[in-house]
Amino acid sequence: MEERYFIDLDAVTAQEKQTLTHNIHSYPAKFIPQIPGSLLEYLRLPAHSLILDPFCGSGTTLLEAAVRGYDAAGVDSNPIATLISRTKCTPLREEQRAQVEAVLSQLPLFDPSDEKRLSIPVFLNRDHWFQPNMLRELGYIRALTASVAGGAAADFLNTAFSAVIVKASNQESDTRWRAVNKNHPDGFALAEFHKKAVDMLARVRELEKFSLGTVTVATQDSRNLDFLRDGSAAAAITSPPYMNSFDYYLYHKLRMYWLGYDHYEVQEKEIGSRNKHCDNGRGVETYVESIFEVAQQVYRKLAGGGYLCVVIGDSIFRDELISMDEVYRRIARRAGFTERETFSFDQRKYTRAFTPNYKTAAKRSHIMIFQK
Ligand SMILES: C[S@@+](CC[C@H](N)C(=O)[O-])C[C@H]1O[C@@H](n2cnc3c(N)ncnc32)[C@H](O)[C@@H]1O
Repeated sequence: MEERYFIDLDAVTAQEKQTLTHNIHSYPAKFIPQIPGSLLEYLRLPAHSLILDPFCGSGTTLLEAAVRGYDAAGVDSNPIATLISRTKCTPLREEQRAQVEAVLSQLPLFDPSDEKRLSIPVFLNRDHWFQPNMLRELGYIRALTASVAGGAAADFLNTAFSAVIVKASNQESDTRWRAVNKNHPDGFALAEFHKKAVDMLARVRELEKFSLGTVTVATQDSRNLDFLRDGSAAAAITSPPYMNSFDYYLYHKLRMYWLGYDHYEVQEKEIGSRNKHCDNGRGVETYVESIFEVAQQVYRKLAGGGYLCVVIGDSIFRDELISMDEVYRRIARRAGFTERETFSFDQRKYTRAFTPNYKTAAKRSHIMIFQK
């Protein structure tokens, strides 16, 4: 590798960040598509190589790989992540598009008093998190989407539904687990769902211009990647969960209630959650050992000379700044990798700090390239 990896983050426009299906659903700490995109350009891998993302989140790496004709395999323990990933990378056939349009055509028929056509799940503190009018509208959308059985159209509708649930709830924001009074007017959830689905239909259509690689997505813990053949991947490009920064299981909890997923199971598997490190006091070693297990798995799945590209941000733990480039350097070496390059930048410049103080000011993000 004679030249050095470089990405000019300031040169990426807001429109470029939201290109294709990348922005169909919000996702905490997703990276901009230009990061995996530029890494793929830089690595110059053979055509049809397999690209792995063991923490695929909303599928940014998978789509960037697929539009370049690479095959991609994504894994995430959170079913909301894998739902978004599948939808993001899947063009709809005409009959699937028609199934979606048939659901949208029924939205104006909503009758809040017609209990038989509402599917409202029972869950803890439901009325604390949802206004009565939003419960009924979401219950109607849920019944309509459930009438489409499996496949890409069902994924599409569930993704649009998921994108609206937090908005239509009392949850303050995607990354704040607190109820606030939003005073949603009647018709809000139905209108948001319709707007979202129409926008997604246009975006998914754009995928038809590409000869997409095959994308496989698995909902499971990445500490076991047995479903993939050893030596089959040319590169892994991933942004692992930041330590002690997020609780994906919590931010998606309302979505999981409505879509029928078990959030306890998801919470248990989640690496690096604030719940594990802050609330339950687990130390840095717990995080390091979990990531090490994944790094070992990835090492096995890569072909000789294959690359592991990691995008990670520094963390604050027990009031101390943890330099994650050092942590990942140690983990990767221990798993057998050789470090090729590290590119670091000021984290504050590109992400909003939740608790800005003098320590978060020193936080950096790192793009690290290792090789088997
Ligand atoms: C930083 S996010 C990835 C975001 C992704 N790059 C994107 O652009 O959307 C990290 C992901 O790791 C997932 N994760 C946490 N623990 C996991 C585990 N044990 N196995 C698989 N995925 C896990 C989280 O659910 C989260 O989606």
